Amino acid sequence: MATSTGASSDDEMSTDGQPSAGTEGAERPAMDLGDFKTLEQFIIERQKGVPHSTGAFSRLLRDISVAAKIVNRDMRTAGLIDVHGSTGEVNVQGEVRQKMDALAHREFVLALRRGGECCLIGSEEHAEAIPLATTEGEEGDYIVLLDPLDGSSNIDVNVSVGTIFSVYRLPERWEGKPTVKAALQPGTRQVAAGYVVYGSSTMLVYTTGTGEVNGFTLDPSIGEFLLSHPDISTPDEGKIYSINQAYYESWGDGLKDYVRWMQQPDEEGKHPFKTRYIGSFVSDFHRNLLKGGIYIYPATRNSPSGKLRLMYEANPMAMLVEQAGGAATDGHTRILEKSPEKLHQRTPLFIGSKEMVETAGTFVQGERELEAA
Ligand code: AHG
Ligand code: MN
Ligand code: MN
Repeated sequence: MATSTGASSDDEMSTDGQPSAGTEGAERPAMDLGDFKTLEQFIIERQKGVPHSTGAFSRLLRDISVAAKIVNRDMRTAGLIDVHGSTGEVNVQGEVRQKMDALAHREFVLALRRGGECCLIGSEEHAEAIPLATTEGEEGDYIVLLDPLDGSSNIDVNVSVGTIFSVYRLPERWEGKPTVKAALQPGTRQVAAGYVVYGSSTMLVYTTGTGEVNGFTLDPSIGEFLLSHPDISTPDEGKIYSINQAYYESWGDGLKDYVRWMQQPDEEGKHPFKTRYIGSFVSDFHRNLLKGGIYIYPATRNSPSGKLRLMYEANPMAMLVEQAGGAATDGHTRILEKSPEKLHQRTPLFIGSKEMVETAGTFVQGERELEAA
């Protein structure tokens, strides 16, 4: 049974401050802590359903979740141990590198190296792909591409940030040490994808492409991720659009029309859509996944490929959203079918509720225009 995530307003409250009937809060009963399932139990259960499984993939997921817990710990004490703020360095994207970006990158690399199931890491925080081998010289079968910390410019002001990860298998018949070429596979070949959001609670959401997206909330008192959002499905239609409107003058005419179309009041004078934009992709995506909506980071005049990265931002989120019933394109092409050429390549991104992404495409491709009022 899919978790009910019907589009609901985030301000549906009765006058006594309690969620009114029919809101998401009312639909999702409080978690019974006597009957929880941990991420580890869930992974083992799923592994039993895979014939001849060696457990390597389960161990890889465990390593990712351990790194997430360590980053979570660092995040929760960030204000106290002065890891906030910039290192003063500039990363491969030419952006000022945050201390937490560097820490999160390090924790994921260490956890994946320790675990031994990953042979190659591609990270936003490292120009080249990083080959891994255990101290015994063994190499794992999996490639992990990640944005160790997404939305990190928000850390200083205590806004939710996240980690995004994408998992591939080393291509069959690959010979020798894995290089970046091994990682340059289209998104359709991902074997798993997920994100962690370090928010008011910490959640890990992942899919292995079997038509299910599951969300786990970290219970800090026992240090375990507990299954809190089983089988997430995203509404086909949503009410939220998330885009940085400050760049309006740099957009193409189709996108300008689409956003202005969403701003039009209906026959009763009501506004059917609303804007929510945190500037932290993981957080904007997570909200829209649960409530229904579209996140757009388009091409602009100065950045014809947009800002977000195909391999460790767009592809993993595209896999997640499709598995939850949504869609992701660059305005023209399905994200998962794009052929990657570079580890850090960028792509425009339209991602979220299926009908919203389709409608956006019709405007961007010039099939539809805003009718004059
Ligand atoms: P990162 O922190 O990994 O560099 O990613 C920042 C991204 C994304 O999280 C966010 O949605 C977007 O940048 C915001 O960009 P604008 O400030 O241009 O809207
Ligand atoms: Mn990012
Ligand atoms: Mn980042």
